[in-house]
Amino acid sequence: MVSTHPAGVQLSGRQYLPQTGNNNINISPNQEILPLTAKVNNQDHLEIGGCDVTTLVQQFGSPLYILDEETLRTACRQYRESFQRYYKGESQVLYASKAWSCLAVCAIAASEGLGIDVVSGGELYTALNAGVSPDKIYFHGNNKSREELILAIQSGCTIVVDNWYELRSLVEISGDKEELTPLSSPSSLSPSPVRIMLRLTPGIECHTHEYIRTGHLDSKFGFDPNDLDELFAFVSQQSVLNCVGLHAHIGSQIFERQPHQDLAAVMVQWMSKAAGYGLTVTELNVGGGLGIKYTESDDPPSIEEWVKPICEVIQQACAAENLPLPKLLCEPGRSLIATACVTAYTIGSSKVIPGIRTYIAVDGGMSDNPRPITYQSVYRTVVANRMSASLTQTATIAGKHCESGDILIKDAQLPKTESGDILVVMATGAYNYSMASNYNRLPKSAAVVVANGEANLILQRETYQDLVRQDCLPERLKKNEG
Ligand code: LLP
Repeated sequence: MVSTHPAGVQLSGRQYLPQTGNNNINISPNQEILPLTAKVNNQDHLEIGGCDVTTLVQQFGSPLYILDEETLRTACRQYRESFQRYYKGESQVLYASKAWSCLAVCAIAASEGLGIDVVSGGELYTALNAGVSPDKIYFHGNNKSREELILAIQSGCTIVVDNWYELRSLVEISGDKEELTPLSSPSSLSPSPVRIMLRLTPGIECHTHEYIRTGHLDSKFGFDPNDLDELFAFVSQQSVLNCVGLHAHIGSQIFERQPHQDLAAVMVQWMSKAAGYGLTVTELNVGGGLGIKYTESDDPPSIEEWVKPICEVIQQACAAENLPLPKLLCEPGRSLIATACVTAYTIGSSKVIPGIRTYIAVDGGMSDNPRPITYQSVYRTVVANRMSASLTQTATIAGKHCESGDILIKDAQLPKTESGDILVVMATGAYNYSMASNYNRLPKSAAVVVANGEANLILQRETYQDLVRQDCLPERLKKNEG
């Protein structure tokens, strides 16, 4: 099947290049499929961040995650600048590091003034090691362990409390000063009240293209809003806790703007209720969730279009309730980082089943991108060394795992390909590396960050030695040759 655009001209990989011009800064990264710096060079190769993708693969091997620094920084700036433009109060954008947690990504986000949202001791440790200031780290999670809570308190980050069990555990742990030597202070200092926010379930449920509002939501996360009175009364009595704010997150890959506006309005109502219990709530966090463009038919709002109405609703609702403006937080993951990254693979074997399907296999698959097999996610691809070639074949891109379902893209439109070609899957920055596994004992892929023609390793490729590093072979199982 030949892919054509409406004028009947055959398409090529070039169709995915971002709108060009010198004003990349005005393009919302989540509305593009390739990173903002993507170009085709005079060898007809895809170039990102001034680096030829085929050269990157020669240098660093494949599969290779290629992170474009400019795209990530642009998205960070657009979030920050939109809040500065439309919100009269203080604001703080957090990067939801579950989308991709590693030192370099946290460091880039932090250098753009973003804080970091973490959901485990491991993500917290990563953010701290990246040099992120604890007062800009917010720790989520519906079942934080005692060890995680202690690490969080010692680090000085803000804990987003999810449920009664956690709330009571925190009161108990915070009362035990012995356990709580702050990481950065002498042990003689007694800890100050633990800075917390409360996560509430708003009864707004989002799927990608629709949302519903219900009185009661079936979610494992957050306090039931029906418990608000009891919750605020309890928290206001706890001198070991300093409740600064309220949090909610309603879903991911959302294209509609109304759900977050409804959420903002509901949150101001909660804030007003808290005031009735003597709780001075100074921060509201509306979560993340803005969607991105994975395929031509995806049409998310821009970052600015998402931020603006949220700010307006909070301002109007606070004015109506006669409440001071809270510090407004949000915590996007996908819309900050997804488009900034592509994954480059080398094409190996292929299998033509006449009249049925052509499979083209690459050297990675569900271990480096588990989203297609997990969520039936759809991706687009280009062949990095044949960017202008017409798309003359329909083929299914298979991974190398021993599992029939290990398909990265069904019915991809491709130019004629050969083994050794470099196939690039686009928009892989969110929830790819962070959900990667060692299935079939494949070593995890390397990642580089590219900018101004320079590539730096940010994740080393795992080795076979890495794979057995944590294995233990009990003495009695050694040398058992039968
Ligand atoms: N805040 C909280 C509390 C969250 O649970 C999430 C995502 C975010 C922020 C960031 O949401 P985003 O802006 O990235 O939509 N693994 C799935 C996505 C799971 C999202 C989980 N929570 C995927 O690959 O599509």
